[in-house]
Amino acid sequence: MNGTFAPSSKQWKFIEAFDNPDLREILYGGAAGGGKSYVLWSLMIIKAHEFPGIKIGLARNTLADIKRNTIATFFEVVNDWGVNKKSFKYNPIDGKIKFNNGSEIIFYELRYLPGDPNYDRFGGALLTFGCIEEAAGVELKGKNVFKSRLGRWKNQEFGINGKLLMTCNPGINFLYTDFYLPYQKNELEPFRHYIPASLSDNKYLGEGYRENLETLDPVSRARLLEGEWDFDGDKTRLLSYDEVLRLYDSRDEPQGDYYLSCDIAFSSDRCVLILWKGLEVVKIINYTGDEPDKEVIRLSNTYNIAPRNIVYDSDGVGKYLKGKLRQAYDFKNNGKPLNDENYDHIKSQVYFKLAEKIRNEEIKIHDHTLRDELIQEVYEIKSQPLETIDGKMKLIKKKDVVSAIGRSPDISDALAYRMVFEIKKRFVKPF
Ligand SMILES: Nc1ncnc2c1ncn2[C@@H]1O[C@H](COP(=O)(O)OP(=O)(O)OP(=O)(O)O)[C@@H](O)[C@H]1O
Ligand SMILES: [Mg+2]
Repeated sequence: MNGTFAPSSKQWKFIEAFDNPDLREILYGGAAGGGKSYVLWSLMIIKAHEFPGIKIGLARNTLADIKRNTIATFFEVVNDWGVNKKSFKYNPIDGKIKFNNGSEIIFYELRYLPGDPNYDRFGGALLTFGCIEEAAGVELKGKNVFKSRLGRWKNQEFGINGKLLMTCNPGINFLYTDFYLPYQKNELEPFRHYIPASLSDNKYLGEGYRENLETLDPVSRARLLEGEWDFDGDKTRLLSYDEVLRLYDSRDEPQGDYYLSCDIAFSSDRCVLILWKGLEVVKIINYTGDEPDKEVIRLSNTYNIAPRNIVYDSDGVGKYLKGKLRQAYDFKNNGKPLNDENYDHIKSQVYFKLAEKIRNEEIKIHDHTLRDELIQEVYEIKSQPLETIDGKMKLIKKKDVVSAIGRSPDISDALAYRMVFEIKKRFVKPF
């Protein structure tokens, strides 16, 4: 190599953190163009040369993203430093870079694949350390399984620990709760380290780059130019991210009667059955069989749930339950609001009630099934823009939620249905 590497002071901090044996997870996150990817590649290339035969995992949401975008920075560093092009082989088909000393950088896809929900595809991987680029886009489970493969290849021989290095722009996923929030409160776990990136750290980018970011919409500008994590100025959101997360704050043993709230579906959408004790969620069932009506009856028998404490969505296939559970509440999404309250439909009414109870910390969730999806759906609860509201409270349209999260919000629907019993206590059908 004949070029020189002149890291910025933040990039130095990242390199030093790698050498600190107490740190296991390092996140360099914040503004775009801060120099995060450049230092990540620099470190991978340096370590690959320093320790022959090691295996470095490089993960991102999709392999296509690595091959299309991430790899460009590898070649930039290689050119800047004058790394001999004969000293490595990049094989895009296998998704790896192999150096002549036997070290490898191997690519992994962290995206959730329905055919591989437990990430068995990582099963055989034995890696020295790992990196995740753009970690704000990945699923927690993917990160955890990837992490479990680290520290398993030549670590003792070279005295390197199986660290996980991550870069990101601000986003709302586990990084917010595991790094950003605790960092703000000075409560970061001792094995974690966070380095906030800002654009001004990087003296290699010209003014044109900043000017470009300044033309973005305000939310993107806050995220990408200022590295702002609490970027969401959306006034229509009913709950802050922090309020949603508090759903999972642990509490004592749940008290109260059993309730069951169901978003029934046979195939295309998810069928979600939620078992409650009072206002505490004790079980979340992601039912995948083709007899959801029988499953509802089975649960009501198992837990001895009073039929009048069961609510189900009767618009679709839920109507099959009508004859079988006559005292249960058949929820019609477009139905009139209860007690003549000021909503367009009962669906908006139960959602606003749900948000209120979550904000007041009256609802807690004890079962972590579908946790990431649930958080995402509940965070997406929004009213329609206030200027379009004609005297009635209205929930955001379902198709807008579907386009924001990429699926139907079946878990939050099932949570919301439970609220009919809070709005109209002890609803009993006459016959
Ligand atoms: N130490 C350095 N030496 C030389 N050039 C650098 C250095 N650090 C950063 N750069 C230059 O700055 C550019 C932007 O940096 P980089 O891609 O690492 O930013 P980033 O923080 O990953 O941005 P994004 O958030 O958009 O992914 C690099 O492509 C490179 O040209
Ligand atoms: Mg980058």
